[in-house]
Amino acid sequence: AALSRIAPLLKSAAPGTTVTTAGWVRTRRDSKQGFSFVELNDGSCMANLQLVIDSGVPGYADVIKHVTTGSSLRVSGELKESPGANQRVELHVQSLELLGEADADKYPLQKKRHSFEFLREIAHLRPRTNTFGAIARVRNCVCRAIHDFFQQRDFLHVQTPLITTSDCEGAGEMFTVTTLLDPDREAKGFKPGEIDYSHDFFGKKASLTVSGQLEGEIFACAVGPIYTFGPTFRAENSNTTRHLAEFWMIEPEAPFYELVDDMQLAEDFIKFVIRACLEHCAEDMQFFNDRIDNTVLSTMQNILDHQFKRVSYTEAVALLEKSGKTWEYPVAWGINLQAEHERWLTEDHFKQPIIVYDYPRTLKPFYMYCNDDGKTVRAMDVLVPRVGEIIGGSQREHRLDVLESRLAESGLDPAAYWWYLDLRRYGSVPHSGFGLGLERMILLLTGMQNIRDVIPFPRTPKNAEF
Ligand code: 4AD
Ligand code: MG
Repeated sequence: AALSRIAPLLKSAAPGTTVTTAGWVRTRRDSKQGFSFVELNDGSCMANLQLVIDSGVPGYADVIKHVTTGSSLRVSGELKESPGANQRVELHVQSLELLGEADADKYPLQKKRHSFEFLREIAHLRPRTNTFGAIARVRNCVCRAIHDFFQQRDFLHVQTPLITTSDCEGAGEMFTVTTLLDPDREAKGFKPGEIDYSHDFFGKKASLTVSGQLEGEIFACAVGPIYTFGPTFRAENSNTTRHLAEFWMIEPEAPFYELVDDMQLAEDFIKFVIRACLEHCAEDMQFFNDRIDNTVLSTMQNILDHQFKRVSYTEAVALLEKSGKTWEYPVAWGINLQAEHERWLTEDHFKQPIIVYDYPRTLKPFYMYCNDDGKTVRAMDVLVPRVGEIIGGSQREHRLDVLESRLAESGLDPAAYWWYLDLRRYGSVPHSGFGLGLERMILLLTGMQNIRDVIPFPRTPKNAEF
């Protein structure tokens, strides 16, 4: 018989139906009346399916002692209305098959709650916990909503390369790709096995991308609005709860958009994703609110109910200066806003997401549009309570001469950006875009504290194992 998933069985299957399902045992309890009660979970939802197994079921005596926490089972039987208050139906098992044992003494996931630190050590088993199952489902829902949002607006999904020669952010935080295949390497004086980081991608220097933006701009300036959705790599040695060495980024890019259009797109986008999760992952979102952070649902509602406040960088600095707070990192026009400043603005002052725009040009990459004041660029960051920056974006500099001088000012070699400059030589148009960090969005939605816990396999300076 075809396997049924547990989520639809619990939600809508009619009592009396005969079904086959399979999953992993959460708990087993044997009654004195010759029944075993087993809680079975298959990851399709938070809830377990209760199995009622009569000791008269064929093979019961041999199998039941192996039905321990963590073991896997396939069962068939009849769904019946459940007398318990916790579930609508339960499965009265007619046949059961043990698929895989799990030594009860050695299985690392015990009934007690484990710390997230401990679960990070067992990344191969943590998806079997309630929290990590819920995160996987919410992540899936977010990814789908992202595609829905852009597809509904006729943005084309474009795949940009992961191996690249251009440092989009100009911050020198790229991982180098090496092949050791430069045919001339020995002539250049390199010993066998010695790495020549500047030439080792088949004789050229290449890196893992920090952003697909520059390549995204190529398509936006040809086919109209586009978005990218892919892994991104940053070799920044920052051990924080907000940074990963490998994270996923979504980068829309739209021709004829100016900064105000970009800000509106970002706001609509975040709200769309939140609505999708509240609608399609209601049970998981409730779980995060009950068990992880009891402000999750009210924060989501608050975000949906208000327009994101637009605050210029200059106004933000003035507010911080007037706040009367003593900052660990002193505030003055020209500083990079620190976590403490972002938190005060979003959590204490505005109490909602804000979009800070028009940053000092010295703080931002070469590609951002220079304002007439000569001091600021058309950048925007979306800051949200608890997480801080989740989106960074800008209107792009589309004037050739200004862009050339910005490259020079940033110490970048214009020759390396010849194709990027060509876009400004031939039919240049105003255009804008932004990048959303997927994991930061998941932090916002779930109330989880550490970015290592919202990606299946976190890559950080100390962690690259499975
Ligand atoms: O602000 P960033 O560096 O912007 C860009 O890369 C632009 N090229 C985007 C664009 O305009 N197309 O990164 C964008 C977002 C940040 O706001 C943050 O959410 C996330 O990416 N991010 C990280 N997330 C996890 N770990 C890291 N190390 C991150 N660095 C950036
Ligand atoms: Mg940024």
